[in-house]
Amino acid sequence: MHNTRNVTQDLIWLGANDRRLALFENVYPIPNGISYNSYLLLDDKTVLFDTVDSAVRHQFFENLRFALNGRALDYIVIHHMEPDHCSELAALLQQHPETTVVCNAQTKKMIEQFFELNLPAEKYLLIKEGDSLCTGKHTLQFVAAPMVHWPEVMMTYDATAKILFSADAFGTFGALNGNIFADEVPFEREYLDEARRYYTNIVGKYGQQVQNVLKKAATLDIAMICPLHGFIWRQNLNFILEKYTKWATYEPEEKAVMIAYGSIYGNTANAAEILATKLAEKGVKNIRLYDVSVTHPSYIISDAFRCAALVFAAPTYNGGIFVNMDNLLRELTAHNLQNRTIALLDNGTWAAMAGKQMAEEIAKWKNCTVLEPTVSLKSTLKAEQIEALDTLAATLCQTL
Ligand SMILES: Cc1cc2nc3c(=O)[nH]c(=O)nc-3n(C[C@H](O)[C@H](O)[C@H](O)COP(=O)(O)O)c2cc1C
Ligand SMILES: [Fe+2]
Ligand SMILES: [Fe+2]
Repeated sequence: MHNTRNVTQDLIWLGANDRRLALFENVYPIPNGISYNSYLLLDDKTVLFDTVDSAVRHQFFENLRFALNGRALDYIVIHHMEPDHCSELAALLQQHPETTVVCNAQTKKMIEQFFELNLPAEKYLLIKEGDSLCTGKHTLQFVAAPMVHWPEVMMTYDATAKILFSADAFGTFGALNGNIFADEVPFEREYLDEARRYYTNIVGKYGQQVQNVLKKAATLDIAMICPLHGFIWRQNLNFILEKYTKWATYEPEEKAVMIAYGSIYGNTANAAEILATKLAEKGVKNIRLYDVSVTHPSYIISDAFRCAALVFAAPTYNGGIFVNMDNLLRELTAHNLQNRTIALLDNGTWAAMAGKQMAEEIAKWKNCTVLEPTVSLKSTLKAEQIEALDTLAATLCQTL
C-alpha cells in the first residue's frame, strides 16, 4: 500500500525508510535508520526527482503508482548517480518507457557505467548549470554542486515554488517517522547531532565546494529545501543554513572541549578523565569524553566539528600511535578539520612515540594550535604530574 505525503499541492513525497541497514555506505552506523527521499511534481508535465535505494523499492513503486494516478512520467531528474538514489533507475525506465532522463553529461556517463541501458540519445535531456526546464506552471533551474558528495552533483531550483531540491546537502541520518518536515519535530534537540554527523562524515572534506554552493543559494529566493535524506525545511531555514556555513568554513559551533582517548590498560583513560574533571571545575560546560575503541569515529569526527578545543590522548603502540587513535587522526586529516585549539597527552612504557607522532599528523591540519607542552605519562599518571594537567586545563580554558 502506498505511503506518501503532499509537500505542496502539486509536489508529493514518495520516500521510504530503511530501519534495518546497519551501516550507511557500509561505514557509518545508523542506529535510527535512514530515509531515502524522492519527490514527484505534478505539473502539465510530471517530474520525478531521483529514485531510492533498492532496499525500499517496493514502497517506492507503490508510492509512484499511486501519485501518478495513471499519468505518464515525463521526466526523471537525476541529481547524482549514486546508487542510494538511483539503483531503481533501470526498473523505473522499464515501467515507464515514456520517461526522459534529465541529467548532466557526467551523470549520463555514470548511468551508462552502472547500468547497461543503451538508451538512445533522445531519451536524455542533458542539462548544465544555468539551464532551465519549463514543465507548465513550474520552471526548474539547474545548479551545479560539484563534490557536494559526488563530482557530478546537480541541484534543482523550482523558481515557481521557490523550492531547492538540494540532493545530499541538508540531509540527516535517521529514518523519518511520519513527520517529514523539520518543523514537525524538535529538530535541534533530537536530530541536529545526526545531521552534523551526516554532513561532517559524508561531505565534511569538501567545505570549499559547499561554501560555493551556499553562495549560489544566497542569490536564490528559497522557501523550502527538499533533500534526499531526512527532513524537508520550510520554516526557519536560516537555522540549518547557518549550521552549514559554520561546518563548511570549519568554524566551531561551541566553545566546548572534546577529549578523545585511547587506552589499553586504563592509565591514559585515567588521565583523560581527570583532565575532564579539572576543566569542569574551571567552568567548562558540555565536555565530551570518548574512548576511541568504543565510539565509532564518525561520532568523534562530528563532535570535533562542533567543539573549539580538542584533546587527544593515546599510548604508544608498537612504536606508533595506539591504532584506533591513529585511525581517528588520519580520518580527521582526511576530513580537512581546521581552526582548532588542540592539546595532547601521551603514554609509553619503554619508548614513548605517540605524542610526537600525533603532533606530526595534526601539523597537517590548517590553522590549528597545539598547546605546549604535551603531557607525557610513563605508564601511569604520577602525583607530580597533576600540576601539569592543571596547567593544561587552565590553558585550554583561556583559549575558549
Ligand atoms: C601491543 C603493544 C605495543 C606497545 N608498544 C609500545 C611501544 O612501542 N613503546 C612504548 O613505550 N610502549 C608500548 N606499549 C606499552 C603502552 O604504550 C604503555 O604500557 C602505556 O602506558 C599504556 O597506557 P594505558 O594504560 O593507557 O593503556 C605497547 C603496548 C602494547 C599492548
Ligand atoms: Fe550521495
Ligand atoms: Fe545520498
